[in-house]
Amino acid sequence: MRKKRTSLKRLPAWKALADHSKEIKKLHLRELFATDSTRGEKLAAEGAGLFLDYSKNRVTETTLNLLQQLAEECDLRARIDAMFGGEKINTTEKRAVLHVALRAPKNATILVDGKNVVPAVHDVLDKMATFSNRVRSGEWVGHTGKRIRNLINIGIGGSDLGPVMAYEALRYYTDRSLTFRFVSNIDGTDFVEAIRDLDPAETLFIVSSKTFTTLETMTNAQTARDWLLKGLGGDKAAVARHFVAVSTNAEKVSAFGIDTDNMFGFWDWVGGRYSMDSAIGLSTMLAIGPDHFQSMLDGFHQMDEHFHTTPFAQNLPVLLGLLTVWYTDFFDAQTVAVLPYEQYLKQHSFYQLIHQGTRLIPCDFIAFGQPLNPLGRHHDMLLANVFAQTEALAFGKTPEQVKAEGTPDWLIPHRVFEGNRPSNTILADQLTPEILGKLVALYEHIVFTQGAIWNINSFDQWGVELGKALAQRIIPELEASLEPELKHDSSTNNLIRRYRQMKLKS
Ligand code: F6P
Repeated sequence: MRKKRTSLKRLPAWKALADHSKEIKKLHLRELFATDSTRGEKLAAEGAGLFLDYSKNRVTETTLNLLQQLAEECDLRARIDAMFGGEKINTTEKRAVLHVALRAPKNATILVDGKNVVPAVHDVLDKMATFSNRVRSGEWVGHTGKRIRNLINIGIGGSDLGPVMAYEALRYYTDRSLTFRFVSNIDGTDFVEAIRDLDPAETLFIVSSKTFTTLETMTNAQTARDWLLKGLGGDKAAVARHFVAVSTNAEKVSAFGIDTDNMFGFWDWVGGRYSMDSAIGLSTMLAIGPDHFQSMLDGFHQMDEHFHTTPFAQNLPVLLGLLTVWYTDFFDAQTVAVLPYEQYLKQHSFYQLIHQGTRLIPCDFIAFGQPLNPLGRHHDMLLANVFAQTEALAFGKTPEQVKAEGTPDWLIPHRVFEGNRPSNTILADQLTPEILGKLVALYEHIVFTQGAIWNINSFDQWGVELGKALAQRIIPELEASLEPELKHDSSTNNLIRRYRQMKLKS
């Protein structure tokens, strides 16, 4: 039994950081760079093949030492060991948290309740690979003998978001003769748009649901089943050729009509948000093939090893996690921007807010040395933007500089940028499946580090569960033919009544 933790604000390192932050707030990044010409080289680290420059942060060596001391006082090392050791660190759900076992090599041993879980992980991976090869080669055909050309993942939350992200990020490596779609929303539009140009005879559905009871997923799966049977003449035997399941619930899978031979399992120690490299990644494997999937797992594993074994001072997830704690607790930062400069990882336009907004938003820039689609000068220009943004955020532009450019006085205040906005820059060679694995594992472990400092269970999900349970109660009230007796609050009651009236108009 772990001893109860002293509250964060009473820890000596936290108190020291609170005092120290008052000094740091007076300093500008311009001064920090001006007083140490080697800062850019010193405040950098490398791990699992990723390079991290964290010099453009509002920190000194003292800050970094104190943050590492805070990690020690919060028992981060023991917590990391507990996760990797299969202890039930998700205490509120009494579960182990073992996404790291999903990418452990075959010969590793990770015990949960005294049983090594690694062989079972590899059995599922082998089964996924056999199935993926059959579909990709055309050996697996649909009910009418046609080759499968369209794959639709039906899932929600962790059973959707990870697969969607991996598909988009690794599109370069996908088999372009196959079409992939992802249905998640219970809004019928999601399903209708996904299938509108598809032939059911060539379409295979992957129903991804840990529980196989989730309302949205099961409703979409049922609709898919109806669509398929309608398109193929109603023969129920077709379901077995056009549906596979990713789940932990064999009974429900079988009741749906899916052959449990075509079910790919996982375990209660895989959290929904951490499941993209479990069987939930089946759509990813179908898209990029088993070999690429394996190199993605290798990437995850390399970052796991780095996190598990590297001293805090060079440990990428620990450093990045601690920096977030620094800005959140002492600078009132409320969010972190993660900015990948790679089209396959998508970019967004909120830079104005980051440069000139009134809240501090620490940024992580992610960039790659080699483009996947080299095109003239494009990549140099892209990378120039990464470096320029970090420079502009850190150093801004002073009134003197603006004036020296001949700017009229009235315009000067508008063109002055305070700067002093912190950022990290992460450089990797190229967006390969392996590197994607490393990056995702990096952020998984950053969250772990923050959870350890703030004493938060990052793994349970009671809030979402509450929403799911309440929806189950409301559905019959919306569908009842007679006016139901409503016992919610007055707002919810009123909204339900209003919706029932609106339904009558259609
Ligand atoms: O309640 C949240 C959650 O359970 C996530 O963890 C999960 O990814 C999502 O809902 C979907 O659940 P399931 O995979 O059981 O359909």
